[in-house]
Amino acid sequence: MRFACRECGRTEDARGSIYACTCGAGPFELQADWKLTRDLTGRGVWRWRGFLPRFGEAPPVTMGEGGTPLVASERLAAWCGVRALHLKIEGQNPTGSFKDRGMTVGVTAARDLGRRTVLCASTGNTSASLAAYAARAGLRAVVLLPEGKAAHGKVAQAVVHGADVIAVRGDFDAAMALVEQLAVEGHGYLLNSLNPLRLEGQKTLAAEVVEDLGWRAPDRIVFPAGNAGNVSAAWKALTELRDLGLLRDLPRLGIVQAEGAAPLARALRAGRPDVTPEKAETVATAIRIGAPVNARKALRALRESDGAAAIVADAAILEARDEMARAGFFVEPASAAPVAGLRDLVRRGEVDPSEEVVCVATGHGLKDPDAVPKGGIRSADPTLESLRRLLA
Ligand code: F0G
Repeated sequence: MRFACRECGRTEDARGSIYACTCGAGPFELQADWKLTRDLTGRGVWRWRGFLPRFGEAPPVTMGEGGTPLVASERLAAWCGVRALHLKIEGQNPTGSFKDRGMTVGVTAARDLGRRTVLCASTGNTSASLAAYAARAGLRAVVLLPEGKAAHGKVAQAVVHGADVIAVRGDFDAAMALVEQLAVEGHGYLLNSLNPLRLEGQKTLAAEVVEDLGWRAPDRIVFPAGNAGNVSAAWKALTELRDLGLLRDLPRLGIVQAEGAAPLARALRAGRPDVTPEKAETVATAIRIGAPVNARKALRALRESDGAAAIVADAAILEARDEMARAGFFVEPASAAPVAGLRDLVRRGEVDPSEEVVCVATGHGLKDPDAVPKGGIRSADPTLESLRRLLA
């Protein structure tokens, strides 16, 4: 196993803390010889252990993450205008988001490599997941959040799990740049999606989609994109499954970003290999990111898959969130972006109505209850009479 740069070929030790190439291409990818067949045993993320890095023999730091349901919704398919739409419900992970898939692998590696402190900058979910897995492993967690801009439910998780929670008076991009420096200075093991090992765990999301569809890819998988680690991990998984002979046809990818934080979508549309950083603002605080760390990887994946990118207004994200809720699914705003974006791409003729699409519902709605308007509740006197009047 080693870290390798896809652009210049340079390699680094996968046990070390050098995650990005000096050539400017961004984070390395893990190169390994996987031993994987379709005869999988066990459940969740570690069902894919032949597809995941390990540095020791002790049982992994796990809480039953992964194995989330893939649920078809005719209502949402009709709303978006496609033949079939499935949601991958990542809110059912232990801390309520897809981040747990990467953290079980990343925190296991940190423990096995003898690290005592784990670090991240986060818009919220990564910090919640890191805090929980560090607690489970008995490690210290330090998390940097953009002050006032992480959803309350996520901050509560990080605090209650006992992380050292620091609100930085700046945005996520500033916190990210600082935490990288803290890692270089030796303050802890960095577990942002810059870390190629963490992204290996996130490969299991796409792998599960393929397995659940009978070892077949859908026409397209659509992700909300922030740092773009998740979409990059999915493409790595899909191409590796193909190279192992386990998957014949690859899907197209899609990413969706908010109007106020869309550096990747703008770069893809302009045909650029890298992003122009932006000052980010959106109601979807999870993806309020202006300088995505995995930009080059993700743009390459999108081009290779003949993928599409949508840019949606905050109002469209909230409209999709409400429509998903009416269909039975409560997700946080960022997780509604794929449905909003898919609808937009169909309307613009960039996605064909005949497509079967998987939208990744990355995080649970309970993470961000403040994004739901107050109201919708009527008050009643405690009498049958007053209730009858209200229900009439
Ligand atoms: N959806 C949710 C709910 C997220 O929390 C994130 C990222 C994304 C989508 C985007 O994933 O970064 O791999 O493109 N949240 C990170 C965090 C940045 O700190 O929790 P990505």
